[in-house]
Amino acid sequence: MANSIALRLASQDDCRQLFEWRNDPTTVAMSLVSEPVAWEDHVRWFESVLANPARHLLVASNGEESFGTVRFDDIGDTAEISITVSPEKRGQGVGGLLLELAATWAKEELGLNRILAQIKATNPASIAIFKKSGYEITSDGEVLSLVKYL
Ligand SMILES: CC(C)(COP(=O)(O)OP(=O)(O)OC[C@H]1O[C@@H](n2cnc3c(N)ncnc32)[C@H](O)[C@@H]1OP(=O)(O)O)[C@@H](O)C(=O)NCCC(=O)NCCS
Repeated sequence: MANSIALRLASQDDCRQLFEWRNDPTTVAMSLVSEPVAWEDHVRWFESVLANPARHLLVASNGEESFGTVRFDDIGDTAEISITVSPEKRGQGVGGLLLELAATWAKEELGLNRILAQIKATNPASIAIFKKSGYEITSDGEVLSLVKYL
């Protein structure tokens, strides 16, 4: 499985799938804005992200099924990363793999030097995968800031 998963740019066809992942209860609880999103708001958001050259929405897929999504929001030579694994694929190492693929993609496609992340202190699975992937915590509190140099 691991070898065949790759990141591709999201397209209009991914809109519904990302909506379902965004409103999964764990994703809602772990989002910085911890509220479910209405369908109309999601569609507006999705289209604005696809149209924004400073935002990069990716889907992890093996060509048959989708495993999760990664988003980069550019800030110069740095970008902030956001990740969601499909609920039924969690706890199997997919998140760690997506972070590795995402770092390679950010370096090769965007020429980034640095990736930032913000993670709720109540999200141990996320903190675990980011630390394992080489991110360092730069500030503590209810929301942790992390950084990885590429
Ligand atoms: C966070 C998320 C991306 C992790 O993806 P995943 O595929 O489940 O993660 P993995 O299986 O690669 O690894 C999970 C790691 O967390 C660890 N973990 C899980 N629950 C844990 C807990 N309660 N305490 C400590 N570690 C925990 C696991 O042991 C594993 O580490 P290991 O590989 O060293 O054993 C995924 O759960 C998710 O999409 N959650 C909802 C959205 C979200 O929280 N996104 C991140 C916002 S910052």
